Amino acid sequence: MRIPINMTKKRLGYAIAFAFCLLILGILVACGFTSLVKLVIDHQVALRPGAKSYGWWSKPPVEPRISVYVYNVTNADEFLNNGSKPVIDELGPYVYTETWEKVNIVENANGTISYNMRKVYQFREEFSAGFEDDVVIVPNIPMLSATSQSKHAARFLRLAMASIMDILKIKPFVEVSVGQLLWGYEDPLLKLAKDVVPKEQKLPYEEFGLMYGKNGTSADRVTIFSGVDDINKYGLIDKYNGKSQLPHWLTDECNSLSGTDGSIFPPHISKDRMIHVYDKDLCRILPLKFEKEVETKGDVQGYRFSPPSNVFADVESNPDNMCFCPAGQPSCAPSGFFNVSLCQYDSPILLSFPHFYLADDQYRNAFDGISPPEKEKHQFFIDVQPEMGTTLRARARVQINLAVSQVVDIKQVANFPDIIFPIIWFEEGVDQLPDEITDLMKLASTVPPKARCVLMIVFFVLGGLLLVTAIFCLIRSSHRQSTLHLEGSNYLATQQIDMAKKKAKEDQQRVN
Ligand SMILES: *[C@@H]1O[C@H](CO)[C@@H](O)[C@H](O)[C@H]1NC(C)=O
Ligand SMILES: *[C@@H]1O[C@H](CO)[C@@H](O)[C@H](O)[C@H]1NC(C)=O
Ligand SMILES: *[C@@H]1O[C@H](CO)[C@@H](O)[C@H](O)[C@H]1NC(C)=O
Ligand SMILES: *[C@@H]1O[C@H](CO)[C@@H](O)[C@H](O)[C@H]1NC(C)=O
Ligand SMILES: *[C@@H]1O[C@H](CO)[C@@H](O)[C@H](O)[C@H]1NC(C)=O
Repeated sequence: MRIPINMTKKRLGYAIAFAFCLLILGILVACGFTSLVKLVIDHQVALRPGAKSYGWWSKPPVEPRISVYVYNVTNADEFLNNGSKPVIDELGPYVYTETWEKVNIVENANGTISYNMRKVYQFREEFSAGFEDDVVIVPNIPMLSATSQSKHAARFLRLAMASIMDILKIKPFVEVSVGQLLWGYEDPLLKLAKDVVPKEQKLPYEEFGLMYGKNGTSADRVTIFSGVDDINKYGLIDKYNGKSQLPHWLTDECNSLSGTDGSIFPPHISKDRMIHVYDKDLCRILPLKFEKEVETKGDVQGYRFSPPSNVFADVESNPDNMCFCPAGQPSCAPSGFFNVSLCQYDSPILLSFPHFYLADDQYRNAFDGISPPEKEKHQFFIDVQPEMGTTLRARARVQINLAVSQVVDIKQVANFPDIIFPIIWFEEGVDQLPDEITDLMKLASTVPPKARCVLMIVFFVLGGLLLVTAIFCLIRSSHRQSTLHLEGSNYLATQQIDMAKKKAKEDQQRVN
């Protein structure tokens, strides 16, 4: 009779041990599952040759587009001769689809990858509101750059410049096609400069175009962190053309290149952290701040990041921007503009957001025909999947402006007042990722929390139930055991108790 009871006890012991195991598993899932998923994601996104993410990175299966809007000047003569307010007609979009590819990829031993970016642009008439050969009238950027720069030069130089421009018949406005404005046209001044200026100061081209030389493989060698060694640096630029800092600005912070190209970011992005994008034409890393949660294609949740509203604020309202003003006051850019002249062969180019978004209204009101900025249409933003750090949707919106300075000694531009003249604005973006990627993301963002929940419930409920039952049985059986002990020692037991015991014994036998 003892042996079966011991066996029951043993079994109950196993059951309790098992129940504890389940509970411990439950606790492990509660505490460690999220970190485990993180580890898996980190391993999956890191750029290892042969991995899926590597293929997506090297040849993105997306169709980015750039939509260009041109500010056509419709009263150039009246503006120059009669001092009228310039009247502008915004044309576009002129849409190009892009194919991106990283070429000459080399994996370095220290967890970095070097490559050249190849972008091929294709004009898409069906998405555009005009043709590439539409003729527009825009400020003559090479000429006005030269005249504006000559402001502080010796007077005879300005006079010489005026006569050269007279001979070459250079005018302050040019009539070019949209395609030429973007991809290049022969400019007599640049041609001249190429021939006469000493080699060291030479401009690299004799053609001028706002996207000149951008169709094809870029000469810039980019080295980024693959994330294999340190996932917190995933995608960040290590070196750009061998340099780890920009040369233009006053502090290391402003010269930092520690941003990504905007397509990937270090994973596990939190709302209180800034992310950074570097683009050569921006001439700096652009900080982006969490704005709101958004839903993108295929119900994938994303975080919208956009530049803080004081990103291009003047140095009075944002003293951090002082480092971007090596010329010192009063030459710092006004609020809403970023002076990239040091990256653009000293041309007085100021970047802003389209329609002077975040700049003072006075700049827009200096023209007729520019509608007030609207956040939805003119804001710069990137929507990222926070867990994986992948960009889901992006709109890089930038306006290119020319800061013209009046130079009275040069008769061609004597009447061209000090003005910030908008030339074009563009929107480069990715709309949606292929289903294959969004499905995976959706899986990655919805399954782990659910799985964690289910596993926790299963482990805790099963473990708990098992434990309670086992303990209950244990108590009952030890109760019975003490009754049995009584049987052997208590000779004073009454008949009634004997009867009860007999019944219990019978029960026990039946049970066993
Ligand atoms: C741009 O403006 C000029 C001057 O008004 C005009 O002749 C030309 O047709 C305009 N271009 C387009 C594409 O509308
Ligand atoms: C400038 O204004 C005068 C009269 O105010 C007018 O006759 C002339 O045509 C205008 N010039 C241009 C280029 O529009
Ligand atoms: C990693 O190696 C590459 C190639 O040797 C080099 O250009 C880069 O500066 C190195 N980066 C770091 C962070 O050591
Ligand atoms: C870019 O180059 C490709 C060929 O490499 C060509 O087909 C395409 O038309 C070019 N795009 C533009 C806008 O010039
Ligand atoms: C832009 O920066 C250059 C170089 O620092 C400076 O000479 C120029 O005055 C600045 N222009 C404006 C409009 O702030």
